[in-house]
Amino acid sequence: MNRNNAPIGVIDSGVGGLTVVKEMLQYLSTETIIYIGDDARCPYGPRSVEEVKEFTMEMASALAKMGIKMLVVACNTATAVTLDLLREQFPFPVLGVIEPGARAATRVSSTRKIAVLGTVGTIKSQAYENAISAISADAEIVPLACPEFVPLVESGQYKQMDIRPVVKRSLDPIAHMEFDTAILGCTHYPLLYNQIQEQLPAGVTIVSSAYETVRDVEKVLSKLRLENISGERKDPIFYTTGELEGFRSIAIDWLGIERPDVRHIVLGKPGCQ
Ligand code: DGL
Repeated sequence: MNRNNAPIGVIDSGVGGLTVVKEMLQYLSTETIIYIGDDARCPYGPRSVEEVKEFTMEMASALAKMGIKMLVVACNTATAVTLDLLREQFPFPVLGVIEPGARAATRVSSTRKIAVLGTVGTIKSQAYENAISAISADAEIVPLACPEFVPLVESGQYKQMDIRPVVKRSLDPIAHMEFDTAILGCTHYPLLYNQIQEQLPAGVTIVSSAYETVRDVEKVLSKLRLENISGERKDPIFYTTGELEGFRSIAIDWLGIERPDVRHIVLGKPGCQ
């Protein structure tokens, strides 16, 4: 296969990376996408750095075998601890979501006080602090781990029940703190956008890294002359390690694709899920 026609691989611990795929489908109209969501082992947020690295490498290796030309790590938790390793191990370009999110936030924040909502792993890694201070040394970060959010998305509960009390409880620790911008530092969180916005102080701008990440994808494709210029985009294929129906229903809901091609994939050693 001509390298330019090869698909772009996208990975996440589960359905969260679909928030990045949505932007990719909109702005990269000629590119084919192959996605892996490790729903069976989601959430990654509370896992050890070693486990996140191992699982992320398994997804990337599976996509490498399928012949991708680029990898987008559409998971903040995996980006925080695995990006350098992936870049060392694979011959294709590997892009993460933290730097783009940090860039977007520093652009819109006028007070330089920025809240970062993320998983326990992402917050512990201080990856956003590092990325933001590299752009704007005087920025102040208000970090907050929201471990209850990802299960609400993965289980589909965000569509079925009133999750406002959980969102309120999770955001309470920063309710009286000063910041003008909040980064959704987990790709699952844009699915809870309305509920999060409702609970944040009025006037706070919410930033997610999806749009900015796609700008990076475009730049790298163009710089490396890797764009698919054949005009032949194939439909995206979604692999999940978890259960097909739950994934399919969120993909239909979020991406607006009527019949998404959702398939099962087995990763890792038996018994380690
Ligand atoms: N979507 C992920 C992220 O951006 C991961 C959530 C999780 O598995 O805990 O961090």
